[in-house]
Formats: sequence, C-alpha cells, structure tokens
Amino acid sequence: MPESLFLNPTALENTFLPRLLPYREEQHRYLADCIKPMQNKRSGTNLLIMGGVGIGKTACIRFILRKLLEETENIMPVYINCWKRDTSPKIINEIAQQLDIRLVEKISSDELFDRIILRLNRYNGVVFAFDEIDKVKDYDFLYRILEDVQSKTIFLVTNVSDWIAKMDRRLMSRLMMDRIEFKPYSYEETRGILRERERYAFIPNSWDYDAFENIIKKTFHEKDVRVGLFLMKSATDTAEGRGSSKVEVKDVEKALEKLKDFDKEIGNFI
Ligand SMILES: Nc1ncnc2c1ncn2[C@@H]1O[C@H](COP(=O)(O)OP(=O)(O)O)[C@@H](O)[C@H]1O
Ligand SMILES: [Mg+2]
Repeated sequence: MPESLFLNPTALENTFLPRLLPYREEQHRYLADCIKPMQNKRSGTNLLIMGGVGIGKTACIRFILRKLLEETENIMPVYINCWKRDTSPKIINEIAQQLDIRLVEKISSDELFDRIILRLNRYNGVVFAFDEIDKVKDYDFLYRILEDVQSKTIFLVTNVSDWIAKMDRRLMSRLMMDRIEFKPYSYEETRGILRERERYAFIPNSWDYDAFENIIKKTFHEKDVRVGLFLMKSATDTAEGRGSSKVEVKDVEKALEKLKDFDKEIGNFI
C-alpha cells in the first residue's frame, strides 16, 4: 500500500487561508486604507465588496482581519457569515461569543447588545465584516451598530449583483459605502493559486503534469477557485483508491464527472 499522496489535506478546504494571498494585493491595500482612520479613533470608510463566487472575497477579508489581530490590540475585528447567522438575534449572539461575553442569566437581545456596545466602545475602533450580507433577513443589527458604535468600519460582502437595488434607501444613505468589485482571476493567476495549493497539500511529484493542467483549465473556465480545490481532492481520492502513487488524467476525468454533485452553495457555508 503506497503512502498517502496528501501531505496536508486541510489545505484543500475552502476555509484554508494561505499565509500570503497573491493577486489581491491591490484589494488588501484598499481595505487597509478603509480602516486606517480608526488608529486615530475615527470611523473608517464603509465598503461594499461585490463579485462572483470563489474569487477570493472572503479570503481577502479574513486576511485583513487576521493581520489586524496580529498587529494591533486596540482595533477589534468582528467577522460574521450571514448565511449561518441570518437574523439580528443570531448575529448579536455571535458577536457576544466572539467577545467572550458569557451570560449567567437569560437576557433580551437588546440588553445583550447594550453589553456588546459597552465592550466594543473600549476599543479605538471596530471592523465589522458581514459576509454573504444578501442572506440576512433583517437589518436591525446594522442600524444599532451605526447608531451606537463610536468608531467603526463596516464591510458588506455579496455575490448578488443587484442586492443593492433592493436595499432600504435610508440604510444605504446612513452607510455611505464605497464600492469595490472583485474580478475573476486570469488563467495565469488561477494556475498560480492552484499550484501553490498543490505545494501545501501534496507530497512532491504526486501529480502528472497534464492531469493538473486540466484542473487549472476547468477552474479558469468556471471562474471559481473552489472548483479547483474540489477537483484536486476528488482526483487524489480516486488515485489513492486504485493504489497509484501519482494522480493521472483519468483520475481528473472521474473528478470532472463528479463535479455536477459539487454544491456551489454549500461551498460558501463556512
Ligand atoms: N488569491 C488567492 N490566493 C490563494 N488562495 C485563494 C486566493 N483567492 C481565493 N483563494 C482560495 O479560493 C477559495 C475560494 O475563495 P473565497 O474567498 O472563499 O471566495 P469568495 O468569498 O469570493 O466566494 C478559498 O479556499 C480561498 O482561500
Ligand atoms: Mg465568500
């Protein structure tokens, strides 16, 4: 039985965040500039981040928030996936958890929010990232944040291009958001990203050249990096299943057949 071809299979998970995030440097800089004023206890620039699925929106946000956590103590990052938490009470509970606010008695959502605000206003500023914002069912939490958090920057992320048109005008004018759109990766960028993952995830020389290039082609065509991650994992499972020490073109062909089962929606649920 050959040894596993995987060195680090977690590197193929959608939630894996590489140390560096190439090809999105311009976007990092944009986001970093938005939050800069908070160093001086002023609110930053709120931002609507748009673009299709699997092109690094979430990764870019998490990259910035990780950096913030590593480099500053007085600015608090709060990241919420609004698919998982799609109502104000759920979002409020999640923020409380991230702040380590533990409750001994049962209190109302409003009271809990009061405590959250007290805690958040101790910081020079708070960066809120509400990912998959189009999934949210009410915006009370946003109104309260706008009202009560002294120094803040709010990032809203969506892949629904006409979401903004359905938004409440009053909320939009309060938010005063800049907008940034992420474009799909070029062929060479797609290759760079997937080849980097290959180095993270597999023992050296696990892949036949053409087999891997076929994955790059399909991923570029679908404009979704997650497709590449799925194909890499699935093809390797097949190769291992037949006891091969290399992933070959036929394994990728099997993976391509399974691609229709890959649920694009589920991929976003982190
Ligand atoms: N520039 C990049 N470098 C490395 N990995 C990336 C890059 N952009 C996206 N990815 C990876 O692709 C996958 C999908 O990206 P994600 O940020 O979840 O997409 P989106 O939020 O736009 O749907 C993730 O595993 C992410 O780490
Ligand atoms: Mg995302």
